Parts: sequence; structure tokens; C-alpha cells
Amino acid sequence: MRRYLIAGNWKMNTSLETGTALASGLADHVRGRDLPVDVLVCPPFPYLAAVKATAGEAGISVGAQNCYFEASGAFTGEVSVDMLKDIGCDSVILGHSERRHVLKECDDMINKKTKAAIEGGLQVVLCVGELLEEREADKTEAVLDEQMAGGLKDVSAEQMANVVIAYEPVWAIGTGKTASPEQAEQAHAHLRKWLADRYTSEVAEQTRILYGGSVKPANAKELLGQQNVDGALVGGASLTVDNFGPIIDAGVELSA
Ligand code: 13P
Repeated sequence: MRRYLIAGNWKMNTSLETGTALASGLADHVRGRDLPVDVLVCPPFPYLAAVKATAGEAGISVGAQNCYFEASGAFTGEVSVDMLKDIGCDSVILGHSERRHVLKECDDMINKKTKAAIEGGLQVVLCVGELLEEREADKTEAVLDEQMAGGLKDVSAEQMANVVIAYEPVWAIGTGKTASPEQAEQAHAHLRKWLADRYTSEVAEQTRILYGGSVKPANAKELLGQQNVDGALVGGASLTVDNFGPIIDAGVELSA
């Protein structure tokens, strides 16, 4: 059975003080509970080490929100996979819609980063998702197929053990408009079938597919309760223990 992954994407939020306090509050929330779910937080680069020191001892994994695909050299402003490993990062979010649409990252760049991250020993949380106009034009599945094929080009079945997919419909991110449980389940089932067709049924069964887009305590249990939803990638609601704690607990309850 797939273990839930409850992941927080802090985006460009928090300060050293508030980020460390959040990490400390989350550590208090999970400490000593031997949780049946995995918990991951992804703070901004400058706070990764401090958050790792605070949350890591309670068993919370720490991930970055981006990385570069080259190992080192003249790439001003970029951060390598080895640097992230060096400070104790376990994971990296790649292909987030804000990087695709605001920073103009393409599938080719996302694929290079995905391969470099896996080869360097990071778990990749690969985000895919359609725009509202794409959904309205009935292009959701075609967009997902293209982003999956592009992001996972030349990624082997064995390497898929280090990949988590996050379905994040762009129209549901930060808008308060959540995909209905049925809409999420339909997209997740489609992604799982894509994995079975491209790889094997084992890869499809083992790969976790998270839902992201306005997840909050009030809707977490229903979304996580869908057959093909294996966790959540949470933005706004991951910024307080009062919101992220109950989302973790929804995964715990459903794991019982
Ligand atoms: P919100 O939960 O704020 O909608 O953000 C979702 C997201 O983009 C997580 O990566």
C-alpha cells in the first residue's frame, strides 16, 4: 500500500524567525507519534538548513522548491543538487506551475533537473497540471500527458522509485477553488494509467500521486480519501501549524 506523503510548499514566504518557529511547531506536532505518513516541508533556500535542524530531528523531511541541473560552475544564482544534499535536503519540487508559468520553465529544462536530482539522490516531486482554459477546452489529459512525457523523458522504471507526481490544476492554486474530489480522482487515475502504459503496472502502483491546489483542513480528508490520491502538496495552508497539522492528521486517520 502506498504511504501518504503530506508535503508543504512554503513558496516565497516566511523569514528565518517565522520559518524556524513553524518548523519547531510542526516538530512538536509530530514528535514521538511514529506517524504512518511521510511529512515533507519545502522552505525557501536560505532557510533550508535551519528548518532541517529544527524539523529533521522529529522525522520531518526537508526539500527545496527548485534546483539546477549542472553540478557546479558559472551559473549565477543557481543551486546544485549536491549543495542541497550537503545541507540535508531529501527532496526537491520540480515543474511547479509557478516555475512553468511565471519563470517560463519548459519541459526540457524540467526534465534535465529531474534527471540530475534523481541521479544525485534526491526524491523529485514532479508537478503537472492544466490551466483553466485548457480544462475548459477539454485538454486536461493531453496537457498532463505532455508534461509527464516531457518531465520523465529518459527516466527509467527503477528511477521512478525516487519520483512522486503532484497533480496541481493551475486554476486551483492559491484561488480557494479546490478541484472536487471527483475531478482530482479522475486526473489521478489518468496519471496512474499513464504510468502503467509508459512503465509497468508495478511502477504505476508504487508511485505516489499527490493532489495540490487549495488543500485545507476542511477538504483534506475527502481529497485524501480518493483511491488514487496518495498525499497532498499544500501551499497556503502549510504556513501554519493550525492548518498543516490537521492535514497531516487527516492522512494519519485514513492510514489507520
Ligand atoms: P495552495 O495550497 O496555496 O493553493 O498552493 C498549492 C501549491 O501550489 C502547492 O505547491
